[in-house]
Amino acid sequence: MSDASAAGNPAAENPISETAVEEAVAAALAAVAAAGDTAALKAARTAHAGEGSPLARVNAQLRNVPADRKAATGKLVGQARGRVNAAFAAREAELAEAETAARLAAERVDVTAASTRWQPGARHPLSLLQEEVADIFVGMGWEIAEGPELEHEWFNFDALNFDEDHPARAMQDTFFIDPPERHLVLRTHTSPVQVRSLLERPLPVYVLCPGRVYRTDEFDATHLPVFSQFEGLAIDRGLTMAHLRGTLEHFARIMFGQEAKIRLRPNYFPFTEPSAEMDVWQPSAKGGARWVEWGGCGMVNPNVLRAAGVDPGEYQGFAFGMGIERTLQFRNELNDMRDMAEGDIRFSGQFGMVI
Ligand code: DAH
Repeated sequence: MSDASAAGNPAAENPISETAVEEAVAAALAAVAAAGDTAALKAARTAHAGEGSPLARVNAQLRNVPADRKAATGKLVGQARGRVNAAFAAREAELAEAETAARLAAERVDVTAASTRWQPGARHPLSLLQEEVADIFVGMGWEIAEGPELEHEWFNFDALNFDEDHPARAMQDTFFIDPPERHLVLRTHTSPVQVRSLLERPLPVYVLCPGRVYRTDEFDATHLPVFSQFEGLAIDRGLTMAHLRGTLEHFARIMFGQEAKIRLRPNYFPFTEPSAEMDVWQPSAKGGARWVEWGGCGMVNPNVLRAAGVDPGEYQGFAFGMGIERTLQFRNELNDMRDMAEGDIRFSGQFGMVI
């Protein structure tokens, strides 16, 4: 049948039969119901609603429908297509939901299930080193002292002879705690324990204080904003720089081997006078023997003794302070300090599964 004959002849037969439309719809709906997954549904959609499908062909015939039947037939075809499309959409949503649910069920992890692998834990090398250092000093008859990490500015700075506007106060990038009138800081070093120990203990005092300290440093290969130090303090009658030297050398030999030695270079700290930077000779470093800067030390400044109520005319002594991360870094030739902060068992495990 040609277009011309249909358009030109109102009595011409309707090229779209109701039965054909119903059959196309029934076939499409059956295909929708039969599609078991979204891939099958997509194929069914192409076959039953896509270009070239029976419904599309029927739709294309609309222009050949005699004028007097156009409205009714158009409505019939439109509703048929609408039903089929709605059925596809509904089934699509249903299948997508079922598929998501199935995937979630398949990927479900039972966090309460017993692990099939058993991995022994490891002490953190920083804890081990800290204990090793503590043991060395306890072996010399020293005591272990502790102080708070949230410290009063007076202990952290003033009592240690940092002036109110001493540039050294700014040298250490401090976390000040709100409100400022309380004068609290996260301690920037373990040195405040010097004063606390002198206030709390009877003389003479020989203490080692390991602990965590805080500075507004970047988190990079050689800096951590939270790290640890150990502080040593010896106050007695007649202590001299020679005692400081001997103590540190003994310490260095246990830590770095019998050939290790130390050297002191003049430096400045408000809480010691004279003050020195201490280097250690590390005979068995990977790249060959070398001097490494290890920490600060000196004879305790009389002002610090006075702040702690100790008569500097009667008692003198020495102090020293080192970073534990830094000690671990150069003793074990580690490149990146961040490994010490991240808590990966594979890092700790390299130091031995010591429990
Ligand atoms: N408190 C110093 C710091 O954090 C280290 C230090 C230097 C400690 C000299 C001392 C000392 O006891 O005598 O950098």
